[in-house]
Amino acid sequence: MIGKLNHVAIVVPDLAAATAIYRDTLGARVSEPLELPEHGVVTVFVELPNTKIELLYPLGEESPIARFLENNPAGGVHHLCYEVADIRAAAEKMRAAGARVLGDIRIGAHNKPVLFLHPKDFCGTLVELEQA
Ligand code: CO
Repeated sequence: MIGKLNHVAIVVPDLAAATAIYRDTLGARVSEPLELPEHGVVTVFVELPNTKIELLYPLGEESPIARFLENNPAGGVHHLCYEVADIRAAAEKMRAAGARVLGDIRIGAHNKPVLFLHPKDFCGTLVELEQA
């Protein structure tokens, strides 16, 4: 069912420093910081030939990644995003398989429908599915 790896999201404690590591040390192409208030994050996209890395930094008091950063002060991998052809069919299939779908399908950072799956059902990794 899952297709391409769309992105790996990494929460970082210092967005400028993380951007410099990917741009200068690793030599990747990086975007300008993009504020996404409806998601409570600022993100920098790192463009790789076969996928993306998203550097995430909390935005606002209600940021969903604030607690992750409290628990992981140095930052860390937050989730993996896989592409699916049909997000509703994917949600049904996951529920039928007994996996926990977190919340409802919503519009993600790329203006495409996404959903999140509980890490305890997926090898300890928060999984995002995005309709490609
Ligand atoms: Co994501």
